[in-house]
Amino acid sequence: MERLQKIIAKSGVTSRRKAENLITEGKVKVNGEVVLTLGTKVNENDTIEVDGIIISKEDKVYYLLNKPREVIAAVTDDKNRRTVIDLIKDDRRIYPVGRLDYDTTGLIILTNDGDFANLMMHPRNEIDKCYVAKIAGILTPREQMTLKNGVIIDGVKTKRARVKVRKIDKEANTSIVEITIHEGKNHQVRKMFEKVSHEVLKLKREKIAFLSTNGLKSGEYRKLNHKEVATLYSLAKSKGVQ
Ligand code: URA
Repeated sequence: MERLQKIIAKSGVTSRRKAENLITEGKVKVNGEVVLTLGTKVNENDTIEVDGIIISKEDKVYYLLNKPREVIAAVTDDKNRRTVIDLIKDDRRIYPVGRLDYDTTGLIILTNDGDFANLMMHPRNEIDKCYVAKIAGILTPREQMTLKNGVIIDGVKTKRARVKVRKIDKEANTSIVEITIHEGKNHQVRKMFEKVSHEVLKLKREKIAFLSTNGLKSGEYRKLNHKEVATLYSLAKSKGVQ
């Protein structure tokens, strides 16, 4: 048996002091019942819920990594290339949530929480992902509209996207385009631009929902805090997929 606030702190969701506050604020449930008493003893079999999220003793962890180029977004690689797991100092069995191509840079979440990963990757969850692409050629307003309305990839039309041209370099004949999608089809952004006859020269994922690369240099990572994880959960759940 261990004290409730100690178990909450050990799970990584927050510090012990903050766990005590959460308990006194009535945000902690044990086996479905709100517990307000600090120091309540709990055991292995008790289900502990903090702010609506069930924590487990397995220490759930959530990282946000700014992936560099030439790193595989997978746990292992048959060609022995560097993977996102190699960049994170954590011995737990974490894995990336969704895909990012070997040559794509930017944000990727890693976790050992299977429920969270499934929820985030569900095609209907509509979590926005904002990419910035450097493409060959100048994207015309008509092509922008085509991308916005959806193009057919592998026989299926992509959902509505937000598209904004950030910069045009007439001399170099390239454009920098911001595109926000909420699906995760394989090579989706590259394929979408291919459909309007522009090659993607560089691709970066700048945002996942409200999370941005701010403060994270290439190759750097940080833990997501409890509030960020809870917000991602509620964003996905509000779209109806449990
Ligand atoms: N779309 C792509 O084409 N590649 C990525 O890595 C992510 C989205």
